Amino acid sequence: MHTAPEAIEASTRLLFDEATKRGIACELLGDPHTILMNQGEHHWYVRGSRTSFQSSVGKTIADIKLVTKRICRHFNLPTAAFVHVKKAEDLEKVASLQYPLVMKPVDLRHGEGVVVGIPDMEASQRYYSRWNRPAIFEEMLEGREYRVLCIDFQFVAAAWRKPAFVTGDGQHTIEELIAEKNRHPWRGEGHQGYLTRIEVDDLVQEYLTDRGLTLQSVPADGEEVKLRKTGGLSTGGEAWDVTDLVCDENRELFGQIARACDLNTIGIDMMCSSLETPIVGQEKAGIIEVNASPGLRMHHYPMQGTPRNVAGLILDMVERNLQRL
Ligand SMILES: Nc1ncnc2c1ncn2[C@@H]1O[C@H](COP(=O)(O)OP(=O)(O)O)[C@@H](O)[C@H]1O
Ligand SMILES: [Mg+2]
Repeated sequence: MHTAPEAIEASTRLLFDEATKRGIACELLGDPHTILMNQGEHHWYVRGSRTSFQSSVGKTIADIKLVTKRICRHFNLPTAAFVHVKKAEDLEKVASLQYPLVMKPVDLRHGEGVVVGIPDMEASQRYYSRWNRPAIFEEMLEGREYRVLCIDFQFVAAAWRKPAFVTGDGQHTIEELIAEKNRHPWRGEGHQGYLTRIEVDDLVQEYLTDRGLTLQSVPADGEEVKLRKTGGLSTGGEAWDVTDLVCDENRELFGQIARACDLNTIGIDMMCSSLETPIVGQEKAGIIEVNASPGLRMHHYPMQGTPRNVAGLILDMVERNLQRL
């Protein structure tokens, strides 16, 4: 079998491998994300988990948090109440929200400038002036962070994203437990492995200190010790598959979100206490953001739960689209 070269991004590799299995010719085009796929008279592109059949408008919308928030409001989809602060004078609008708040500069990406847990107006002003650029202020949601994947506007998989943690055995220190966890064969550097190694950085140190712990503490047998407040796979977290637990109302809701955002491949970040009961009706539960090129490795390689061949489902969708041509 033709195998993917080393320097290829993880989701792209899963699609490369699945396509190759199906006899689809794959060619990399000089960057780690883009594949030209060819079958019979047809060709199309794959980039990350996106395909040529994705709406480019949808992709642009997903990249603009403010537009996504307004779409949620328009379609009455659950998300945190928010205001748009364009300039310092608009900060008074924040008074209509309930503290604590989250601030997200609208023109920064990948978490830059996101501040969680802003306690009052004085802090809102302080954080706003630090960046001094248009921002969304929104109320805090609560609970776990889930990643929901819809393909072709249908719910297909859900993963509970657990920030980096270790489980005690009553004998080893947190430092030793981290080293042990990092020896797992799935944990590589950056985005190359299925998981990423846990790095003990300032945030981990600070998180432990705030809880009266150090790297030398010995957690009790079976005790789960979180190492970071938030963070996905890229900071050493892991994903557990919970697809089968999602209730019908939520499956329906996720399809609606995909259609509202015009994205036939979409990763929806949800915060809520559980996906087993309808999110509509849960307090402080809703959409955090949506992603047009969601990572696939957490669904193919969950640390717990059933692996889902979502790359296969993306290629099934491509085939359905080709048949319509
Ligand atoms: N309304 C909210 N309530 C609670 N936590 C939030 C809220 N919005 C964002 N967060 C936290 O901040 C993180 C980053 O926010 P997000 O909107 O996903 O921006 P980005 O992915 O660009 O960093 C989220 O993964 C979540 O942990
Ligand atoms: Mg995010």
